[in-house]
Amino acid sequence: MTETGITTRPVSPALGAEVEGIDLSEPLTAERHAEIRALLNSHLVLFFRDQDLTLEQHKELGRGFGDLHIHPAAPNVEDHPEVIRIRADRNSRVVAGMKWHADVTCDARPPMGSILHLHQVPPVGGDTMFANMYAAFEALSLPMQRFLEGLTAVHESAQVHRDRFGFGGELRDGANAFPEARHPVVRTHPETGRKCLFVNENFTTRIEGLAKHESKALLAMLFEHITTPEFHCRFTWTCKAVAFWDNRCTQHRTVWDYWPATRHGYRVTIAGDNPV
Ligand code: SIN
Repeated sequence: MTETGITTRPVSPALGAEVEGIDLSEPLTAERHAEIRALLNSHLVLFFRDQDLTLEQHKELGRGFGDLHIHPAAPNVEDHPEVIRIRADRNSRVVAGMKWHADVTCDARPPMGSILHLHQVPPVGGDTMFANMYAAFEALSLPMQRFLEGLTAVHESAQVHRDRFGFGGELRDGANAFPEARHPVVRTHPETGRKCLFVNENFTTRIEGLAKHESKALLAMLFEHITTPEFHCRFTWTCKAVAFWDNRCTQHRTVWDYWPATRHGYRVTIAGDNPV
């Protein structure tokens, strides 16, 4: 336990910690902000149980870590454009986040992090899996690390947003083209200075400068590598739990094994920087 009464329990050796002793609905003091940031830099994803948060408090918590990101296409909540509704029930045909991904890497400045609060959980199932992208990078051979460090990847969103949201026209912010961006395949985390793998199965479609078949094979190898269980933790939700992940050095995927039960909550997403 720290001097301020916080305890942390790692969820796996790779990443993730359950944090006790913090009420996230309380205004974020400078000290509390620094504690959470330090924990996030150490554990990459933090879990807090039994948190009573209104949507305003949820947004306020996110704003404590940066401007809130507005998703170009995901369903948001009336009067709260910064809040994404996460919901699956017996009528769902697809749910958000079923492939390994970091959030919205199709943006030029992908989010720094996301905070998900579940208000309703299924009786069993509905876990979220997380993967440590420092570990994924460090587990590659040195020649492969060097090769990847010189590469840039294209991250597109049309294939994700069109399929998932059935979106045919103008996006929420008035843009008429699905966002896409170019990012280094290996980025350096701006706070820890550590290198991590930054390609994901949802958004990354090709690697610049390689022949099509080379890019396809390399991405297939990296996407397979990211599924290595030793890089993972798995969080079993309870009602009102919160997960706060660092989107720069982790990936996640949801497990939809609970149909026809309902799982429901809200996510706010914190704006990030230009990956380098
Ligand atoms: C997401 O990708 O943000 C959703 C994760 C989840 O619902 O488990």
